[in-house]
Amino acid sequence: MAGLTDSAWRQICKQWGADVVHTEFVSVDALYYQNKKSLKLLEYRAKEQPVVVQIFGKRAELYPRAAKIVEATGIAGLDINFGCPAKKVAGHGGGICLLRDMDTVKKIVATTIESVKIPVSVKTRVSINAIQNNPSQGKITVLDFVDALSEFPIAAMIVHGRSYEVPFNGPVDLEMLKKAKSKFKNGIFLINGSFQTIESVVKDLKYTQADGIALSRALLGQPWIFQQIKDYIKTNKYKKITWSAIKKTAVQHAELLWQSKGPKGFPEMRKHLLYYVKGHPQASSLRKQLVAVENPQDVKKIFKSL
Ligand SMILES: Cc1cc2nc3c(=O)[nH]c(=O)nc-3n(C[C@H](O)[C@H](O)[C@H](O)COP(=O)(O)O)c2cc1C
Repeated sequence: MAGLTDSAWRQICKQWGADVVHTEFVSVDALYYQNKKSLKLLEYRAKEQPVVVQIFGKRAELYPRAAKIVEATGIAGLDINFGCPAKKVAGHGGGICLLRDMDTVKKIVATTIESVKIPVSVKTRVSINAIQNNPSQGKITVLDFVDALSEFPIAAMIVHGRSYEVPFNGPVDLEMLKKAKSKFKNGIFLINGSFQTIESVVKDLKYTQADGIALSRALLGQPWIFQQIKDYIKTNKYKKITWSAIKKTAVQHAELLWQSKGPKGFPEMRKHLLYYVKGHPQASSLRKQLVAVENPQDVKKIFKSL
């Protein structure tokens, strides 16, 4: 997730059982022109591996060079974003809007796969109106996407179960996810979107027959759900997290963020901290203190008093 999935957060997710972690998405155009801020997004620690870098852009001709820059970092895999609905990406025909131009989709995937040896995966959504703001003209769906990519050795596909038109809220289309899973023969298939409970995730996995789940917003403030989902799949039960473990994780997260981004980047920790205290009886007074933390010591002090 852009603005959230940095090295510190990935290390925390890994520690709590994530099998693979993704970077924030990185613009192919920016990589091509070696933009310093974008190159910084490729930095990771060995203990995060396997790390996948997600890239986005609509100009197929820029992908080979961008993909090689990514591969040279030693990263484990490359994911191409065909799902972003944000105006600054989809508004210019990128992200999910690329599904309206399957030739370019194919060109992007083909040139990327040809350029690198690391596995290449793709992320998309269940559907988009074929014509913007004109639902009567039908939809392009993930099934068309799977068809278009059937000839390529794609390592994995992640599908967000919502459409472009309903980008972030509401239920996911489990029927479409199930159909896409059974149609996609190239690699592993992961469902994404609308985490409700540990039990419901496992039910959705069983229903769609997907190979796994990609978690996003639900992880904020509760990275241990990786472990809980795995435990539930294996044993049909999982342990509730304790406040002592939450405190320990939040302080460790703050320390990791300080190590990777220093004082300038540390204010980014505040948004994570607000998620960690969600549900605590003193949440509202804690929030007032947490929005002002400047360093890991401040975080430790506040959590010690709990
Ligand atoms: C703040 C934010 C940033 C996101 N950034 C990305 C991104 O860089 N790449 C991506 O594939 N999806 C991104 N997403 C979408 C999520 O990965 C995910 O597909 C979506 O939130 C649905 O899953 P959820 O309901 O579990 O959050 C982002 C979502 C949010 C809320």
